[in-house]
Amino acid sequence: MVDERRKILIVDDEKDVVDTINDILIEEGYETLLSCDGKDALRQINENSPELVLLDCYLPEMMGIDVLKEIRKNNEDIAVIMMTGRGEEQLAVSLMKAGASDYLKKPLGKFTLLSAVKDVLRRKDINREIIQSERLLLLGELFPFVAHEIRNPLHAIGGALTIIQKRARNEPLIEQSIKVIYEEVNRLNKFVKECLDFSNPSDLSKFASTDINDIITSSVDLMTPVFQDLSKKINVSLSLQEDLPRVETNFNEIKQVFLNIIKNSIEAIDCDGELNIKTNYNPNHSSKLLTIEFSDNGKGIREENSKKIFDPFFTTKMGGTGLGLPVCRKIICENHRGMLSIKSQEGKGTTVIIRLPVDDVRKDHEKKDISC
Ligand SMILES: Nc1ncnc2c1ncn2[C@@H]1O[C@H](COP(=O)(O)OP(=O)(O)OP(=O)(O)O)[C@@H](O)[C@H]1O
Ligand SMILES: [Mg+2]
Repeated sequence: MVDERRKILIVDDEKDVVDTINDILIEEGYETLLSCDGKDALRQINENSPELVLLDCYLPEMMGIDVLKEIRKNNEDIAVIMMTGRGEEQLAVSLMKAGASDYLKKPLGKFTLLSAVKDVLRRKDINREIIQSERLLLLGELFPFVAHEIRNPLHAIGGALTIIQKRARNEPLIEQSIKVIYEEVNRLNKFVKECLDFSNPSDLSKFASTDINDIITSSVDLMTPVFQDLSKKINVSLSLQEDLPRVETNFNEIKQVFLNIIKNSIEAIDCDGELNIKTNYNPNHSSKLLTIEFSDNGKGIREENSKKIFDPFFTTKMGGTGLGLPVCRKIICENHRGMLSIKSQEGKGTTVIIRLPVDDVRKDHEKKDISC
């Protein structure tokens, strides 16, 4: 996950109430935004994408329920807890119908407030996970069939194009059109391959003792023509610890992860930039985890996107499939029982951190299969 504090917007026209809630939430480690009226609250939601809004029912000019309805017009994802001084049952019902996540009576006690906030955020996380796993399940079950149906015509199109290309020499317009078709065929092939990587189970027979530094140098070598692309100047530096223990991995899968991450860094750098790749293992540490870090000084990840980057098909790029990071996460976390986290700051850069267990992960897979 991207490192970040969860952001909450507090909306109330009574300054004392805002200050008290603000102190409690800050002490608990949340990031807060403050507002004293409905219009300003809607503007802040638009600009800063909080995860949760604590919204007073009785606001000047625009009532809380109207602000809530306005939020729900284009956003199902933000949680909203309504607050009121009056505790009418009927009001509570209308608020829940309008899309409130919860309802609290003022004055708010610290315990009640924090439990409601934690509960609503937890529900939000669970919903998100359910949606994600439903999508993954569907992808895993359907895709092998779909891939077959897409790949066959793609092969046929590729073959037919080669024949047309031979006949179309010295016809610039036709040559240009053929190039476009080739590019699109390649893009579709890449998409199908990424979806298949995502839905295929890991091949345990391909696990072998590997030196992670070798996979890094092999991945960097493969990307060298891209680093030397004249349109960008990317300086790649390697800080690889020499005496790394060998790790049981599927070489090609891990290489694919490194290539995806390096490709993302290159795409995040506009003209000049740096990419540093570091490996580290501390034998005295009880966790027995080997760490690999990729740090770039590219454009970084916008805060509102940071929660979505592991969602299948989420992309901010023209022509991106949005499967690069989900595939990385599957390979590292599921297939290799490792960890993958990302720290990023918009405008400054991104660091991807991978931790791999130095023990043989196949044993874990076997254990899991038995217990399943
Ligand atoms: N190093 C990075 N710097 C900035 N943004 C990044 C970085 N890595 C990932 N991202 C963001 O995460 C999104 C998802 O990345 P992911 O690799 O899954 O898909 P993609 O790169 O968009 O498409 P694909 O990998 O299929 O070509 C990207 O679109 C980008 O917005
Ligand atoms: Mg990518």
